[in-house]
Amino acid sequence: MQVGIDQIGFYTPNKYVDMVDLAHARNQDPNKFLIGIGQSKMSVADQTQDAVSMGINATMRYIDEIDREKVGLLVIGTESGVDQSKSASLFVKSALELAPEVRTFEIKEACFGMSAGIMIARDYVRLHPHHSAIVIGSDIARYGLNTGGEVTQGAGSVSMLIKAEPRILALKNGHSAYSADINDFWRPNDSAVALVNGKYSTEVYLDFFKRTFTNYQAQNDCQTADFAALIYHLPFVKMGFKANQLAIEKQEQETAERLANNFTASAQYSREIGNIYTASLYLSLLSLLENGNLAPEALVGLFSYGSGAMGEFYAGQVMEGYQNALDFDGDQEMIARRQKVSVSEYEQIFTQALELPQDNFELESDEETGYWYFAGTKDHVRQYKQK
Ligand code: CAA
Repeated sequence: MQVGIDQIGFYTPNKYVDMVDLAHARNQDPNKFLIGIGQSKMSVADQTQDAVSMGINATMRYIDEIDREKVGLLVIGTESGVDQSKSASLFVKSALELAPEVRTFEIKEACFGMSAGIMIARDYVRLHPHHSAIVIGSDIARYGLNTGGEVTQGAGSVSMLIKAEPRILALKNGHSAYSADINDFWRPNDSAVALVNGKYSTEVYLDFFKRTFTNYQAQNDCQTADFAALIYHLPFVKMGFKANQLAIEKQEQETAERLANNFTASAQYSREIGNIYTASLYLSLLSLLENGNLAPEALVGLFSYGSGAMGEFYAGQVMEGYQNALDFDGDQEMIARRQKVSVSEYEQIFTQALELPQDNFELESDEETGYWYFAGTKDHVRQYKQK
């Protein structure tokens, strides 16, 4: 029995900042952001979008196509949690009208949270092949105005259905994990924005990639040339590009070109959306599937990284006809529908979203009909509504 990804839903908020505008506002050369960092735009979440509403909106992309009754597990990975106690997944479960029997919880380990959820879901479905699992990554990357990390922000969510005999990607057995207790990126309880040592973080990320990729190959008797594509957690495109350069540096031309081309395809959406933390690797996967060149059974290697730090490499095989299970037009429209905001509008939206609205004040959303949004708190209980 094969177990893997059968559905992918993606959501990003309806506003973006152009990196050229941001570069001008910050007195930087635009090419530093466009080429040096590798970002063209970043999605901006206003006060009405959070990890919960984005996770619902991503899953709404496919929920009516699946058998809700079969969903036995719902996991959300996020580091933009909305409550210190209650799982974000319970709000999501309610909006999606999943059965009360579903096992549901939230996972936190920086950007690794969604990968942890996928591994749990993979093993769950192996034990319960008649059940499926929904795994969501949903995050708003906030580093702060006028900080070095500002250019690497973003917002969005990816949701996936994991089931037996999947239509998109069969997850292979085996994985290679590596962890260390370090301080490259974190968000203390008294801060709405992340603290980061960006250069150190890049060093550790590259080190973890080398370790996990090498170990994976040794444990699974495979080599770099066997992979049709290698994809990465992309806090910003340049970081994954550096890892991919390490992977291809000693390869023959054909392998190096294939992996370089498919890396470019996998980074296309991140370049437009920015960092979405837990879901970033899976946005790379979606981008690869929709823009890359993959034959049936092509082997795709996935490198997941969560600061703090946890790295893991695993792999999947593309299913024949996987294109039919994707919504290419819908994903293009999701990205294209966003409205550009000026840097000063973005600064205002950013600052406002750092604070909770006053209790019992109802927020309005400017999203399109059908999308869910955070409507404020009522007697300190978060309210989610569908427009
Ligand atoms: N044209 C082209 N390239 C240019 C340029 C120009 N005019 N000017 C500069 N560059 C290049 C530089 O050469 C450099 O390239 P290399 O990295 O290849 O050397 C690149 O642009 C960046 O330049 P700087 O290093 O000078 O930029 P900076 O000091 O502003 O820092 C950064 C960049 C470290 C990425 C910073 O933006 C940052 O800290 N971002 C946050 C990083 C981050 O998120 N880390 C955590 C990763 S894991 C994660 O996602 C967290 C998690 O688990 C939740």
